[in-house]
Amino acid sequence: MTFEWLFKKIFFSRDKVIMNNFNATPFALPDIGTEEIDEVVDTLKSGWLTTGPKVKKFENDFKDYLNVKYAFAVNSCTSGLHLALEACGVGPGDEVVVPVHTFTATAEVVRYLGAETVFADINRETLNIDENEIKPKLNGRVKAIIPVHFAGQACNIGAISEMAESHDLSIIEDAAHAIPCTYQGKTIGTISDATVFSFYTTKPIATGEGGMIATNSKRIAERVNIMRLHGIDRDIWERYTEIKPNWKYAVVAPGFKYNMPDIMAAIGIHQLKKADAFQQRRKWIASQYNKAFKRMPIGIPCVQNELETHAWHLYVVQLEIEALAITRDEFINKMSDMGIGTSVHFRPLHLHPYWRDRYNLKPEDFPVAYDIYNRSVSLPIYSKMTDDDVCRVIEAVKTALS
Ligand SMILES: Cc1ncc(COP(=O)(O)O)c(C=O)c1O
Repeated sequence: MTFEWLFKKIFFSRDKVIMNNFNATPFALPDIGTEEIDEVVDTLKSGWLTTGPKVKKFENDFKDYLNVKYAFAVNSCTSGLHLALEACGVGPGDEVVVPVHTFTATAEVVRYLGAETVFADINRETLNIDENEIKPKLNGRVKAIIPVHFAGQACNIGAISEMAESHDLSIIEDAAHAIPCTYQGKTIGTISDATVFSFYTTKPIATGEGGMIATNSKRIAERVNIMRLHGIDRDIWERYTEIKPNWKYAVVAPGFKYNMPDIMAAIGIHQLKKADAFQQRRKWIASQYNKAFKRMPIGIPCVQNELETHAWHLYVVQLEIEALAITRDEFINKMSDMGIGTSVHFRPLHLHPYWRDRYNLKPEDFPVAYDIYNRSVSLPIYSKMTDDDVCRVIEAVKTALS
């Protein structure tokens, strides 16, 4: 029984992703090689399973990869966003602006801190937060903005940074989709107060679960380092590796249990080395799709600047439903019948009961996100796809639309 076989058999359906493992071409698969497997075995044999030398190495490698001063491994992007916001001092009475077209994690962390989430609509072309929609929300209570680099294409972080500077706001970038990714030649992860990456199983590099906070701010780094592990003033690894083991530690804040274990970091060390090669493969797949779909009644993703690095975490097409005989949901069912896994990114947050009811929101309140939601489908795009998989997806799209 191979790992891949086992993986395909595990039925996995979180609202945000349909992996449909009985499909010939699933929606997503991590690209795990012998290097990752050997490193995990080495970790298991070492006797050090929790946060230790592998996490330190992963963090150091990540710092070098981004060219950033600090990197902190955590157990998810969600916990990383929570920690980064907390370190920026967000709390009750504050508001934080978030795109409505994102996964709920981006918005829920604001509520963890007792602050209020303020949604902004997106740009119809890039599907990233529309900076013009942010401006009217800046009412004095807004303390931070969490822009998302949707699908792996950088949002207009330059314009958002200018706005943040003039209103004294913090920016925490949600880069769950965005490694590697650039904005005006600058690497995402080096620009704002803090940037948080995800290593969830479907993400551009995967450790199963996991995340990384990147920052150049000493103040944020110090707070995150303490708060990610129970508010203890030194990390677990330090406590056991000094020449004279020192059991003493002090709790200085009511922190969280968000540290990454070495078993995860063992995978991450090798995934990071492959991040650029993975992106090249996804970029090639996107180019094949672009060529094939050009003359079909579907909108292909809009790339703002070919010179920037687009992580191509997602390939989202917009069905021209007015010109088609089938609905978006029928299209998804047809693709599934042909053995192709697909997904939808995202069902905008204002349509979900919690967010709708808390802020009394109507579908038309965010017209762009609502319209995009009704016509968009994410097609498989991951480095493990074979050339045959890519052809199969293209043929299935043609058949579904014919
Ligand atoms: C935009 C966005 N932000 C945050 C997250 C949360 O990531 P994690 O599962 O690592 O907490 C996701 C996960 O899908 C995401 O898509």
